[in-house]
Amino acid sequence: MAEPAPSLLPFNNLTISDTVTEADFSQRVLIRSILTRPDSGAGLAGQTVKVGGWVKKGREQGKGSFAFLELNDGSCPANLQLIIYADVAPLGQFTPTGTCLHVEGVLQMPPEDKQGKQSIELKVTKVLDVGAVDPAKYPLPKTRLTLEFLRDYVHLRPRTNTISAIARIRNALAYATHTFFQKHGFLYVHTPIITTSDCEGAGEMFQVTTLINDAEKVEKELIKNPPPSQEDVDLARSVVKEKGEIVAKLKSDKAGKPEITAAVAELTKAKENLSKVEERSKLKPGIPKKDGKVDYGQDFFARQAFLTVSGQLQVETFACALSSVYTFGPTFRAEHSHTSRHLAEFWMVEPEIAFADIEDDMKCAEAYVRFLCQWLLDNCLDDMEFMVEKFDKKAIERLKMVASTNFVRLSYTEAVTILEEAVSKGHKFENKVEWGIDLASEHEKYLTETKFESPVIVYNYPKGIKAFYMKVNPDKKTVAAMDVLVPKVGELIGGSQREENYEVIKERILEMGLPLEPYEWYLDLRRYGTVKHSGFGLGFERMILFATGIDNIRDVIPFPRYPGRADL
Ligand code: 4AD
Ligand code: MG
Repeated sequence: MAEPAPSLLPFNNLTISDTVTEADFSQRVLIRSILTRPDSGAGLAGQTVKVGGWVKKGREQGKGSFAFLELNDGSCPANLQLIIYADVAPLGQFTPTGTCLHVEGVLQMPPEDKQGKQSIELKVTKVLDVGAVDPAKYPLPKTRLTLEFLRDYVHLRPRTNTISAIARIRNALAYATHTFFQKHGFLYVHTPIITTSDCEGAGEMFQVTTLINDAEKVEKELIKNPPPSQEDVDLARSVVKEKGEIVAKLKSDKAGKPEITAAVAELTKAKENLSKVEERSKLKPGIPKKDGKVDYGQDFFARQAFLTVSGQLQVETFACALSSVYTFGPTFRAEHSHTSRHLAEFWMVEPEIAFADIEDDMKCAEAYVRFLCQWLLDNCLDDMEFMVEKFDKKAIERLKMVASTNFVRLSYTEAVTILEEAVSKGHKFENKVEWGIDLASEHEKYLTETKFESPVIVYNYPKGIKAFYMKVNPDKKTVAAMDVLVPKVGELIGGSQREENYEVIKERILEMGLPLEPYEWYLDLRRYGTVKHSGFGLGFERMILFATGIDNIRDVIPFPRYPGRADL
């Protein structure tokens, strides 16, 4: 196999080479390949390179004889300093923040008194391209902007230090996810985004329908072109009758073939016209109804369809054939939660393992989360250092702690006892604590941040608060569910052993008041060759919140969707 391109290697593992490599498929070198070498680029002095990027800061100096520009191309958090003299090109166009530059130049050591800050700079010899910016209009000037303000500019915010650092961390976590599961023999399965079953049974689904568009089209069309009346239909019908009689007469008179053929053609035309008139006469404004209810038989899929809330049910079909699988894709929930931890569109990583029980499931979840944390320490330290400096002093410490600590494991009953003890010692929770409650975010935070200061896995929840597919425990009161709780975020993972017994799961569906019909295929997995199996879902954005220490989930997804907002 060919060696991976040097630009893709983590630079902290590279020995110093004395040349830089061109970025693949692009006419420049990555700024990362200059600045993140162990010698910070010093060994490259004298080399001629092309770079491209966007100006972070620019200032003219020496009475306008030269300018310093801080250039960033997104390949790493650090900027490359450019020095450009007025005899190369007029300087004013380069200095505004946001200007795009593609230049050629010679790498050089900065003057000795400036070497503390910059290990290497680029003296520009040729300007290849400029994407100018009018600083009076550019919405992202160099003053520090709040993350909230930036949400109004989702199309420009990737140019900021914070959003680009989060993008690199997000990318690293996605790569780490595939690496982890592929390394452990899991097969990546693409589950559908449009679904006809509600996985969580919580009714928080976005509907996918063309009925509304179609109704609007019909309404517009009917205004332009009123539908035929009953008289028009009767008239079209009588023409068909008349033409039919002509054909019959010609046949009984044994008329010539050309004459009959011509009459049959007339009849066909009249029939086509009748069916068109009949079709149009049925057009009614509004959503089609049958027996007083919306007639989904006329919808695009001839049934009700939704955006998926989880790929679990579908990925189970592959787990029950290929043993260890995972899906990683977007999921959608029409929850009206305006919290800092909920999105209407978020990404979920969902492994599903055959021949595995809740213990195996917890082991997998713990190993995966710890792997992700170690991966960021090994591959994204510069971005993590940025997060520590700007957002969360403890971010790196937290990753190290999680990567090296065994997770605490507690049954739900033990967790409630701990919370009750806290209440008896005077700790105030807004939500009541008693066996049977769904743990609220404040309870989860108490366990993981105050009590244990470590990730905590809570398992065996009351069956009343969990989904129908979870394995009922022998006590009949609890299910083999598990949630991984982490400091800063609370619930990061939700998972369970699945109920593989046909009778029990059928009962559970009915008990939950869900219709059986949409789950018949799911029941087939239990009817034929059923297998003990388990899985979980990790909220990908929650993982990024946990890693970076960013406060709001809307800032860790490129294009946030939440109630009232879906830009671009
Ligand atoms: O706990 P949940 O609802 O579990 C499932 O959907 C299972 N079907 C997963 C499985 O077993 N395959 O969701 C899993 C995780 C949560 O722990 C949380 O991290 C995240 O998804 N999550 C959300 N993240 C952002 N916004 C939302 N609205 C979220 N809802 C859940
Ligand atoms: Mg959950």
